[in-house]
Amino acid sequence: MDKNITKTLLSGVKPTGRPHIGNYFGAMKQFVDNQDSHDSYVFIADYHAMNMIQNGEELRQGTLDIVLDYLAIGLDPKKVCLFKQSDVPQVTELCVIFNTLTTMPYLMRAHAFKDAEAKNKEINVGTFDYPILMAADILIQDADVVPVGRDQKQHVEYARDTAEKFNRIFGQGEEIFKLPEPLILADVETVPGIDGQKMSKSYNNTIPLFAEDEEIKKACLSIVTDSSGELPKNVYAIHKLFRDEDYLKKLYEENKGKYKILKEALMADVIAFVTPIRERRKELAKNIPAVLEILKEGGKKANARAEAKMKKVREVIGVSLY
Ligand code: ADP
Ligand code: TRP
Repeated sequence: MDKNITKTLLSGVKPTGRPHIGNYFGAMKQFVDNQDSHDSYVFIADYHAMNMIQNGEELRQGTLDIVLDYLAIGLDPKKVCLFKQSDVPQVTELCVIFNTLTTMPYLMRAHAFKDAEAKNKEINVGTFDYPILMAADILIQDADVVPVGRDQKQHVEYARDTAEKFNRIFGQGEEIFKLPEPLILADVETVPGIDGQKMSKSYNNTIPLFAEDEEIKKACLSIVTDSSGELPKNVYAIHKLFRDEDYLKKLYEENKGKYKILKEALMADVIAFVTPIRERRKELAKNIPAVLEILKEGGKKANARAEAKMKKVREVIGVSLY
């Protein structure tokens, strides 16, 4: 590690489905952009995903897919420790310990819990305790910064509160757990989908990041345009992710009202962007054992770091007798 790197970055991603360009520009790219400036840890939150996926084959495949996705977009395993949560089972131990310090009313105030409860009263304990397992993920690695989407901000606050509480009760003046900061990209706007709503896996309106040309063409040509204005707002908002605005302003001015030409220009730019990463992903997928090795090595490193932290935790809480 470069000795100028002083901050530890950590984030987790759930292995739930094919990423789209909204996920890429809104979240995934951040890890690649920060890999030279931070001691970085990125993990696949497989235990968290179990709240949604209760099928062994699906979880295994989803985990492998997401590792391929991240390697394909340029995450460098020499710079970033890439691992899966379940290779650091100490997080579940720490979660049990944190649970003894956490009250039910406090967890009931979580937005994610309230949303889940509004949809279905039969919430599993895993969903209820989600923020505390996430606090354990973050705190066990001494993370300084946690890049997340806006929806996850409260979870990072839960991790801070939990660290403060633990330090107060067991620290005797010592900061056992660092207080993490969320890193939320202020200028990342919500990328619209082809129907103009937020691009989301749940709305069926995406341009998948690793799509084949035909799928990209179809998606771009079906972007909804507002016939009242001259600037096709949704086409432009997506195009802006791939080209600078000086170039785009000229292009859109010269082709005022010619939506088909503009959509075709966007299509060509998306294809030019997607092709190399899609091909890289295919190459990586030819050697799954090598990909698994990256994950395994990352797991060893993250596990050793977590174990060192847990030694201290076990000592201060009074469970280590020999
Ligand atoms: P989805 O809505 O497709 O299920 P997720 O909730 O899994 O996406 O989000 C994963 C990450 O991608 C989050 O950090 C989220 O903020 C970001 N993200 C998702 N959709 C968009 C979008 N349309 N524009 C910008 N960022 C997005
Ligand atoms: N809750 C995060 C999400 O849904 C995933 C996650 C689990 C995470 N543990 C984490 C993110 C720790 C950052 C740090 O996107």
